[in-house]
Amino acid sequence: MKYNIFPNTQEKVSAIGLGTWVFGGENWGGADDAQCAAAVGEALASGMNLIDTAPFYTDGLSEKIIGQALKGRRDKAFIATKCGIIRENGRIRHDLRPASIMAECDQSLKRLQCDVIDLYICHWPDPAVAIEQTMGTLLKLRDQKKIRHIGVSNFDLELLKKACAAAPVSAYQGQYSILERGMEKEILPFCREKGIGVMAYGAMGGGILTGKYKNRPPLTKKDARHMFYEFFEEIRFKKVIQGVEDLKKMGHPMNQLALNWVRQQSGVMTALAGCRSAEQVRANVAAADWNLSAEELEKIRAAVFV
Ligand SMILES: NC(=O)c1ccc[n+]([C@@H]2O[C@H](COP(=O)([O-])OP(=O)(O)OC[C@H]3O[C@@H](n4cnc5c(N)ncnc54)[C@H](OP(=O)(O)O)[C@@H]3O)[C@@H](O)[C@H]2O)c1
Repeated sequence: MKYNIFPNTQEKVSAIGLGTWVFGGENWGGADDAQCAAAVGEALASGMNLIDTAPFYTDGLSEKIIGQALKGRRDKAFIATKCGIIRENGRIRHDLRPASIMAECDQSLKRLQCDVIDLYICHWPDPAVAIEQTMGTLLKLRDQKKIRHIGVSNFDLELLKKACAAAPVSAYQGQYSILERGMEKEILPFCREKGIGVMAYGAMGGGILTGKYKNRPPLTKKDARHMFYEFFEEIRFKKVIQGVEDLKKMGHPMNQLALNWVRQQSGVMTALAGCRSAEQVRANVAAADWNLSAEELEKIRAAVFV
């Protein structure tokens, strides 16, 4: 495994981190809990210390599976979890009010069966709450030693700047892949300048960049790949698959090519790889054994997917 030190902190995190949205299976067509737990074990065994989760992932089940799997080896993992997405009567709303964050943090600690969260991330902006209030709450949690570092996710540049003015932001989480490079315009340069570690999600485009699809999979309306990763929409899908077939000619396993392209971009501390099994962890961790050359990085950048 390769590691990066999060700038502004002394934290050493694996260049490929374990993504666990799929844990519990909600929004991902189901998942086997035992296999997800085995994915955590395999991640640790292969030196992948960063584990990313959120209360939103299958309504806390992702955190519970991780907490159980980490019993007796909590010190081996760097846990990132989140706050700010609340379920209520079957509906979902954003909430970064102080009382809500405080309550969410306690619930996450309980599900994760630990005393402290290494990185606590605002999952999504809440326009109804002043960011200074949110950041003040996170600082309070840090003072109480319930969290160690603060991160934000899916913030635009203006909000990120305000967050940084109110508290030390150690990490930024956003979508970044060969297919989705919007972060390069403003966020990535700002994070590089300020020493904020970027955690890239969707680096395999929700699975489409692994090269395993020939045809569009049947997805329910609530499936993450349908509602979140637009590459799975009918017209886009065909074009992306054509681009993927072209990239395969470079001779690398596609999942690893996709992860390495992201993790080798300057400023990226970790490329999150969502995995539902130990087998997927092994296939993705292997990306850290090699690097794309400078020419390959540029060739991939120039690839056409639209
Ligand atoms: N902050 C946020 O708002 C946010 C948003 C999205 C994600 N995230 C985080 O980032 C993580 C990564 O993103 P993601 O999971 O959405 O997308 P991703 O990593 O691009 O894709 C993950 C999916 O690809 C498939 N896959 C993974 N490895 C594979 C392999 N070697 N061969 C074949 N298929 C493979 C699996 O699904 P199948 O087996 O079903 O194909 C897996 O669930 C998440 O798990 C989550 O922790 C955060």
